[in-house]
Amino acid sequence: MSKPTIGIALLGLGTVGQGVWKHLADKRSDLETRLGVRLDMRGVAVRNLRRTRSVRLPKQKLTTDSVALIDDPKVDIVIELIGGTTVARKLVLRALRAGKTVITANKALLCDHGPEILAAAQASGGKLLFEGSVGGGIPIIKSLREGLVANRFDLIVGIVNGTSNYILTRMGEDGLDFETALKEARTHGYAEADASLDVDGIDAWHKASILAFLAHGKWAPRARTLVEGIRNVRSADIDFARKFGYTLKHLAVVRRDFKAGWMSVGVYPALVPSDNILAKVSGVNNGITLRGDVVGSTTLAGRGAGGDATASAVLGDLVDAILARTRGGIVDADLHALTRAGKSLRMADEDEIVSPFYLRMTLRDTHGVLAGIYRIFAQHKVSIARVVQYEHPDKGTGTLTLSTYPASERNIAKVVAELSRAKTVLEEPMLLRIFAT
Ligand SMILES: NC(=O)c1ccc[n+]([C@@H]2O[C@H](COP(=O)([O-])OP(=O)(O)OC[C@H]3O[C@@H](n4cnc5c(N)ncnc54)[C@H](OP(=O)(O)O)[C@@H]3O)[C@@H](O)[C@H]2O)c1
Repeated sequence: MSKPTIGIALLGLGTVGQGVWKHLADKRSDLETRLGVRLDMRGVAVRNLRRTRSVRLPKQKLTTDSVALIDDPKVDIVIELIGGTTVARKLVLRALRAGKTVITANKALLCDHGPEILAAAQASGGKLLFEGSVGGGIPIIKSLREGLVANRFDLIVGIVNGTSNYILTRMGEDGLDFETALKEARTHGYAEADASLDVDGIDAWHKASILAFLAHGKWAPRARTLVEGIRNVRSADIDFARKFGYTLKHLAVVRRDFKAGWMSVGVYPALVPSDNILAKVSGVNNGITLRGDVVGSTTLAGRGAGGDATASAVLGDLVDAILARTRGGIVDADLHALTRAGKSLRMADEDEIVSPFYLRMTLRDTHGVLAGIYRIFAQHKVSIARVVQYEHPDKGTGTLTLSTYPASERNIAKVVAELSRAKTVLEEPMLLRIFAT
C-alpha cells in the first residue's frame, strides 16, 4: 500500500520558520518512517524574496503569495509563523475555513482573536494546534491538555517571558541597571524589536491568557487582567528582595477559586521566596508550575524562546496533526468542550485577589512624615508587616521600604492612590506583589 502524502505550507521564514525548516529537513526521513507518510513541503511564504536566510531551500519553494499557497489543494497543514494579528488572522481563518489543519506559535493572535479562531476551527472540523505559543520548547500545552488532564488547577504560576527574566537575572546577579541589561538582551537577540512587548508585560499577558483558557475555558478580558512589566524595577528593589530571602521575578499568575466560581489572571514583577523552584529559573529560561488537585505541584522548565526551542514545539504539533489526519480524530475537540465549560466562570473582583505587598517610596523628610504615611495604610485596612528601612540618601528626602500583611488589590490600590497624592511622597510609589502559594 502506498504511503499517504501530507502537504505542508510554511508561512514565515524568520527566527522560528527557519528553525522549523532546518529541523524538519534533518528529521524528515525519521518522521516519515515513524508516521508512515510522505511529507511534501509545498512552499514557504515570506515578505521579501531577496532576504538572506540561515537555511538553504530551493528558490522555487519561496513565494510572497500566502493565499495561493494556502489555497493549493495539495496543502493539508498550514504552519503560521508570520506573527502579528492582522495578516496572520486572515490567513489562519482562510486555512481553517478551507478545512486545513493550522499550527501556529502566535500568542498575540490567539489572545486577541482566540474565540473567533476556535469557532472557525470548530466549524470546519476542528484543526488548530499552538504548542509553540507558550513556553518555547517546554511542552506546557500538551501537559495541560493531555498528561495532566485529570487535574483541576487552582494555581498556575510561571516565568513566561525570557527577556524579562534575563534582564532581572543580570540585574540581580551581576548588578546591572535596567537599561544596560535591556541593551545586552537586545545584543543577544533576546528582546523583541519592540521591547515594550517584553518589558511592559504584554507578551507575558498573551501567554497567561492562553494558559488560563486551556486550564479553565475562559479568555481573560484585558481590562480585568493586571498587566505590569519590569520597567520600573530598580536595584533597590532587587537588593531588598535578596536581603529578605526573595528573588525578583516577572510572573504570570492564574488563580481559580472553584468554590467561589472565579478566575484571576495577572502578570507582574513579584518577590518570589528564594527556595521556590521558580526563583532558580534564570537567564532566558522559562519555568511554569501547575498545581493540580490530583498531581500536586509540577514544574516544567527549559528554553522559553528561540528558533530551535520553538521549532521543537511546532514539530510536535505537526506530528499530532498528521496522526489526526491519517488515523482519524480531531486534535482540538477538548478546546470546544472547554469553551462551553468556561461560560459560567467569572473574573475575580479586586476584593478577592489578595497577597502581601512590598512598597518603596521617596519621601520629603519632614517631621511626622512617617506617621502620616502609616495613617494612610490604616485608613484602608492594610496592615504593615514590617518597615524594612528608612534611609536618607539626600538631605531633605528619604526612601521608605516596607512590606504588608495580605491585603486585597482594591485596598492596596486605594493606599497607592492616596500616597501618590500626598505632598510628602515625592515620586509614584513602587508597588510589588510578594508571591505566596
Ligand atoms: N522568536 C521566538 O523566539 C518565538 C518564540 C515563540 C513564538 N514565537 C512566535 O512565532 C511567530 C514568528 O516569530 P519570529 O520570531 O519567527 O518572527 P520573524 O523572525 O519576524 O519572522 C517573521 C516571518 O514572517 C514573514 N512575513 C512577514 N509578513 C509576511 C507576509 N505578509 N506574508 C508572508 N510572510 C510574511 C517574514 O518574511 P521576511 O523574512 O521576508 O521578512 C519573516 O520570514 C510570532 O507569532 C512569534 O510571536 C516566536
